[in-house]
Amino acid sequence: MAIREVRKIGDPCLEKVCKEVKAVSPRTNELIDDMFDTMYESCGVGLAAPQVGILKRIVVIDVEDDHGPIVLINPVITKRDGEQTGYEGCLSVPGKSGIVTRAENVTVEAFDRNMEKFTLDAEGLLARCIQHECDHLDGVLYTTKVEGDLLDNSQLEEMYED
Ligand code: NI
Repeated sequence: MAIREVRKIGDPCLEKVCKEVKAVSPRTNELIDDMFDTMYESCGVGLAAPQVGILKRIVVIDVEDDHGPIVLINPVITKRDGEQTGYEGCLSVPGKSGIVTRAENVTVEAFDRNMEKFTLDAEGLLARCIQHECDHLDGVLYTTKVEGDLLDNSQLEEMYED
Protein backbone atom coordinates (compact mmCIF):
# COMPACT_ATOMS: atom_id res chain seq x y z
CA MET A 1 0.00 0.00 0.00
CA ALA A 2 1.30 3.38 -0.94
CA ILE A 3 0.30 6.92 -1.70
CA ARG A 4 0.48 7.69 -5.40
CA GLU A 5 0.92 11.06 -7.05
CA VAL A 6 -2.42 12.61 -8.05
CA ARG A 7 -2.32 14.01 -11.59
CA LYS A 8 -3.49 17.60 -11.85
CA ILE A 9 -5.63 19.38 -14.43
CA GLY A 10 -3.62 19.84 -17.63
CA ASP A 11 -2.08 16.35 -17.37
CA PRO A 12 -2.90 14.41 -20.57
CA CYS A 13 -3.83 11.32 -18.48
CA LEU A 14 -6.96 13.17 -17.34
CA GLU A 15 -8.19 13.62 -20.90
CA LYS A 16 -7.98 10.03 -22.14
CA VAL A 17 -10.69 7.39 -22.51
CA CYS A 18 -9.61 4.54 -20.22
CA LYS A 19 -9.44 0.88 -21.17
CA GLU A 20 -11.69 -1.86 -19.80
CA VAL A 21 -10.21 -4.19 -17.18
CA LYS A 22 -10.17 -7.80 -18.37
CA ALA A 23 -8.82 -9.46 -15.22
CA VAL A 24 -7.84 -8.37 -11.71
CA SER A 25 -4.16 -9.23 -11.35
CA PRO A 26 -2.12 -8.80 -8.15
CA ARG A 27 -0.95 -5.52 -9.69
CA THR A 28 -4.55 -4.40 -10.14
CA ASN A 29 -5.26 -5.23 -6.49
CA GLU A 30 -2.22 -3.23 -5.44
CA LEU A 31 -3.42 -0.31 -7.57
CA ILE A 32 -6.87 -0.41 -5.91
CA ASP A 33 -5.32 -0.48 -2.42
CA ASP A 34 -3.07 2.44 -3.35
CA MET A 35 -6.02 4.36 -4.78
CA PHE A 36 -7.87 4.05 -1.44
CA ASP A 37 -4.74 5.14 0.47
CA THR A 38 -4.27 8.10 -1.86
CA MET A 39 -7.93 9.12 -1.64
CA TYR A 40 -8.09 8.92 2.18
CA GLU A 41 -4.75 10.76 2.50
CA SER A 42 -6.24 13.69 0.56
CA CYS A 43 -9.64 13.48 2.32
CA GLY A 44 -11.36 12.77 -0.99
CA VAL A 45 -14.59 10.79 -1.40
CA GLY A 46 -13.69 9.26 -4.77
CA LEU A 47 -10.74 8.60 -7.04
CA ALA A 48 -10.45 7.24 -10.58
CA ALA A 49 -7.41 5.32 -11.88
CA PRO A 50 -6.46 7.95 -14.50
CA GLN A 51 -5.98 10.40 -11.61
CA VAL A 52 -2.96 8.33 -10.59
CA GLY A 53 -1.82 7.94 -14.20
CA ILE A 54 -3.33 4.50 -14.91
CA LEU A 55 -5.66 4.50 -17.90
CA LYS A 56 -7.96 1.71 -16.71
CA ARG A 57 -11.69 1.78 -15.89
CA ILE A 58 -11.35 1.54 -12.11
CA VAL A 59 -12.94 3.80 -9.50
CA VAL A 60 -12.82 3.83 -5.70
CA ILE A 61 -15.41 5.67 -3.62
CA ASP A 62 -16.10 6.19 0.08
CA VAL A 63 -18.65 8.84 0.95
CA GLU A 64 -18.66 7.63 4.57
CA ASP A 65 -22.17 6.20 4.44
CA ASP A 66 -23.52 2.69 5.07
CA HIS A 67 -22.06 1.45 1.78
CA GLY A 68 -18.50 1.75 3.10
CA PRO A 69 -15.60 1.61 0.63
CA ILE A 70 -16.75 0.83 -2.94
CA VAL A 71 -14.69 -0.47 -5.87
CA LEU A 72 -16.19 -0.08 -9.33
CA ILE A 73 -14.46 -1.89 -12.19
CA ASN A 74 -15.74 -1.18 -15.73
CA PRO A 75 -18.71 0.78 -14.32
CA VAL A 76 -21.63 1.65 -16.55
CA ILE A 77 -24.40 3.97 -15.43
CA THR A 78 -27.56 2.31 -16.68
CA LYS A 79 -30.18 4.64 -15.20
CA ARG A 80 -30.31 8.31 -14.23
CA ASP A 81 -33.24 9.97 -12.49
CA GLY A 82 -34.02 13.38 -11.06
CA GLU A 83 -31.64 16.27 -10.61
CA GLN A 84 -29.33 17.71 -7.96
CA THR A 85 -27.38 20.95 -8.17
CA GLY A 86 -24.49 21.56 -5.82
CA TYR A 87 -20.82 22.20 -5.26
CA GLU A 88 -18.32 19.70 -6.52
CA GLY A 89 -14.55 19.45 -6.26
CA CYS A 90 -11.83 17.12 -7.48
CA LEU A 91 -8.42 16.05 -6.15
CA SER A 92 -7.03 16.79 -9.62
CA VAL A 93 -8.25 20.40 -9.37
CA PRO A 94 -6.96 21.30 -5.90
CA GLY A 95 -8.46 24.16 -3.92
CA LYS A 96 -11.33 24.75 -6.34
CA SER A 97 -15.07 24.10 -6.39
CA GLY A 98 -17.89 24.71 -8.81
CA ILE A 99 -21.60 24.14 -9.16
CA VAL A 100 -22.57 21.11 -11.23
CA THR A 101 -26.01 19.66 -11.94
CA ARG A 102 -26.12 15.86 -11.85
CA ALA A 103 -28.79 13.17 -11.66
CA GLU A 104 -30.14 12.71 -8.12
CA ASN A 105 -30.39 8.92 -8.51
CA VAL A 106 -28.30 6.54 -10.57
CA THR A 107 -28.05 2.81 -11.11
CA VAL A 108 -24.55 1.60 -11.90
CA GLU A 109 -23.47 -1.83 -13.09
CA ALA A 110 -19.86 -2.76 -12.37
CA PHE A 111 -17.51 -5.58 -11.43
CA ASP A 112 -15.96 -6.04 -7.99
CA ARG A 113 -12.40 -7.12 -7.17
CA ASN A 114 -13.38 -10.73 -7.86
CA MET A 115 -14.67 -9.66 -11.28
CA GLU A 116 -18.18 -10.48 -10.16
CA LYS A 117 -20.84 -8.25 -11.64
CA PHE A 118 -23.07 -6.25 -9.31
CA THR A 119 -25.63 -3.49 -9.49
CA LEU A 120 -25.71 -0.50 -7.17
CA ASP A 121 -28.53 2.01 -6.70
CA ALA A 122 -27.33 5.32 -5.35
CA GLU A 123 -28.76 8.71 -4.48
CA GLY A 124 -27.53 12.11 -3.38
CA LEU A 125 -23.80 12.46 -2.70
CA LEU A 126 -22.99 8.86 -3.64
CA ALA A 127 -24.84 9.27 -6.96
CA ARG A 128 -22.98 12.53 -7.61
CA CYS A 129 -19.67 10.89 -6.82
CA ILE A 130 -20.35 7.91 -9.13
CA GLN A 131 -21.19 10.28 -12.01
CA HIS A 132 -18.08 12.41 -11.36
CA GLU A 133 -15.75 9.38 -11.20
CA CYS A 134 -17.27 7.67 -14.25
CA ASP A 135 -16.70 10.91 -16.18
CA HIS A 136 -12.98 10.63 -15.30
CA LEU A 137 -12.86 7.26 -17.08
CA ASP A 138 -13.93 9.02 -20.27
CA GLY A 139 -11.45 11.86 -19.84
CA VAL A 140 -14.07 14.35 -18.65
CA LEU A 141 -13.37 16.72 -15.76
CA TYR A 142 -16.17 18.38 -13.78
CA THR A 143 -14.69 21.75 -14.72
CA THR A 144 -16.23 21.29 -18.19
CA LYS A 145 -19.68 21.05 -16.56
CA VAL A 146 -19.47 23.87 -14.04
CA GLU A 147 -22.30 26.40 -14.07
CA GLY A 148 -20.84 29.87 -13.55
CA ASP A 149 -17.34 30.36 -12.19
CA LEU A 150 -14.89 27.92 -10.72
CA LEU A 151 -14.37 29.24 -7.19
CA ASP A 152 -11.41 29.14 -4.85
CA ASN A 153 -12.36 27.14 -1.77
CA SER A 154 -11.27 30.13 0.34
CA GLN A 155 -13.99 32.20 -1.37
CA LEU A 156 -16.47 29.43 -0.67
CA GLU A 157 -15.62 29.38 3.04
CA GLU A 158 -16.17 33.15 3.22
CA MET A 159 -19.58 32.72 1.60
CA TYR A 160 -20.57 30.04 4.09
CA GLU A 161 -19.46 32.16 7.05
CA ASP A 162 -22.41 34.52 6.50
NI1 NI B 1 -12.34 14.08 -9.71
